[in-house]
Parts: sequence; structure tokens; C-alpha cells
Amino acid sequence: MKKIAILAGDGVGPEITAQAVAVLEALEHGGVKLAMQEAPVGGAAYDAAGDPLPESTLKLAKEVDAILFGSVGGPQYDALPRPKRPEQALLRLRKELGLFANLRPATVHPQLVNASTLRPEVVSGLDVLIVRELTGDIYFGQPRGIRPAEGGGREGFDTMRYTEHEIVRIARVGFLAARKRSRRLCSVDKANVLETSQLWREVVTAVGKEYPDVALTHMYVDNAAMQLLRDPKQFDVIVTGNMFGDILSDEASMLTGSIGMLPSASLDERSKGLYEPIHGSAPDIAGKNAANPLAAILSAAMMLRYSLGEDAAAVRVERAVAKVLAQGLRTADLHEPGTTRLGTREMGEAVVAALE
Ligand code: IPM
Ligand code: MG
Repeated sequence: MKKIAILAGDGVGPEITAQAVAVLEALEHGGVKLAMQEAPVGGAAYDAAGDPLPESTLKLAKEVDAILFGSVGGPQYDALPRPKRPEQALLRLRKELGLFANLRPATVHPQLVNASTLRPEVVSGLDVLIVRELTGDIYFGQPRGIRPAEGGGREGFDTMRYTEHEIVRIARVGFLAARKRSRRLCSVDKANVLETSQLWREVVTAVGKEYPDVALTHMYVDNAAMQLLRDPKQFDVIVTGNMFGDILSDEASMLTGSIGMLPSASLDERSKGLYEPIHGSAPDIAGKNAANPLAAILSAAMMLRYSLGEDAAAVRVERAVAKVLAQGLRTADLHEPGTTRLGTREMGEAVVAALE
């Protein structure tokens, strides 16, 4: 029996995660046996215990086979000192569990080609995977801080850094992912300006020699941001650092019409993972039964595939999602004339009903 931690968090997190859990429970009748345990995280944990990542939650996260994560954050926590902010829970979980490989697929469902702000012919059939490094870079580099500046006033500073080892292991994830797809890998950096990126490009090129069957290209991040809008279908797999990946994956999500559709996986060296929708806590619609639970449900599907070895169950969930979309069922983020508008709960129920 596999053990799963359910960390629902803040905002819409609890609502959407409840629907993903309902889908997993429905699979249990089909023979997928899971022991699920909930724990507080983010602002909810801060409110309850004064700590966005209580020791007991971290302990549980370390023990289980996989973590299903909702979302964290909210305006009421914005003024807290950095260590108490909800986002710290996520950053610490990534770091303490060694979840260095973040997979963010952006695919356009045939039923949703008109949901994108880009023309249908630009996005239809899009299937790109962003592989983002998640435990290094300027997010975690030391030194960092705010200090008195020479000549008066203060200065803020952060440190961008990557070791060869960190670059090698994320590059391998990128090459292996490309090998299972169209065998094209685009490494994104800023090697024309940054030393860190120069090393990144050298190391990725060297690793590429081990994967002669994968076509490796390099692109500067500013150009990549433009190319994603100009012609996103030129990409198969993109591999990049933590900060560039953060930005490009938000951009890529909008190619698909709604950030409410996109799941993600954050994996360690042994395929233990944390699974979360890439959208945030959306405090403006929290508690209104209005959020789209499909990103959370698709995150549960990724968990079945990558951490639990339940490929067939993952496919069942993904097919059920495709089916409800084909039935014209939509949450508010994707509602258009001729489709049926559902709440969060009703959408979850529709997916359960559509499971084969
Ligand atoms: C993401 C988020 C996080 C990040 C925040 C919430 C810390 O934007 O997962 O993309 O910057 O990594
Ligand atoms: Mg982000």
C-alpha cells in the first residue's frame, strides 16, 4: 500500500484537492490502494501553529511515497517576515526533499483551442514539456540579503549559482524526457550575459554527447519568451534553471487557455514526488466552488504515473478529463457559449463519473 500526504494549503487549495482525492478514492474501487493522510501547510498551518511548514508536516512529507499539494498563499500573509510566509513551506519542501526536477507539461486539449488568447492555428495540437530545475539558482543561492549600500541607502542582493553536478542531473532529466517524446531538447539560458549560464550551456552540451539520438538546441531566455508566443509548436522539451523556468512555465500555461488546467510534478532522484497544479491559491475565488479542479486532478494522474507506478490508472484519469471536456462541461475559467458551466465539486463528480 502506497502512502500519500495530502497538503491542501490555502485559498482554492482545499476545494480542488478534495476533488483530486475523490478521484483517487474512486480508483481505489478499481484496485489502486492508497493510504492518504492530510496535514496543514502554508498560511493555514501558520494560522494554526505559527509555522507555514510545521515539523509534523515535514516529517510526514519525508515518510510518504508522494505528496499531493494544493496551493499556498494569500494577501493576509503578505506582510509577514519571509520565514513565516506560506511560500516558504513550498520552497522548504522542495529543498529538504531534494525535489530538483520540476516537470510542467503544457498541452492544448482539442476542445479548448479557442480558449487561448492566441489564434487556434498557433496553439492547436501544442504539447510542450518544461523541465525546470527546482532546488538551485537565485532562489536558494547564498549570499543574499538587504544591506547598507556603499554611498548611502540600502541594496538588495541575491546570488545566481549552479554547480556542474546540479546542471548535469537536470540535463539528464531533460534528455530522458525528450527521448520518450519527439527527441528534441531546447536548453534555455542567458549565456550571452551570465557566467552561470555559460557554465550551464557548456555542461548541457557535454551531457548531450551521451544522448546522440536527441537533437539539442540552445536559446537565450528572452528569445525563448518570444518564441513561445510566436511559434510554440517548435518546442518539444525545454530544460532550464529555476527562475527562467518559473517565468516561462507561467507563460506557457496561457498558451493552453487556462492556468487552471496545468498539473506539475517535482521529483527527487528516486522519483518520489510532490504534485501540484501550477496555478496559485486564487484567493479572489476561494470558497466559492468556482475554481477549476482539473489541474489538481491531472496532478494526481501525474502522481500515479511517476511515483506510484500506476500507469493504467493515470491514463484512466486523463481520459476521464478529456471526456468531460468533450461533453462540453466547463468551470468558469473556461466557460463559453454552448458549454455547460459547473462548479468545482460538480466538475470533480463529472470526472469520477467519466472514469472507465
Ligand atoms: C511556482 C510558484 C512558486 C515559485 C512560488 C509560490 C514560491 O510561482 O511554483 O511556480 O516561484 O517557484
Ligand atoms: Mg511560478
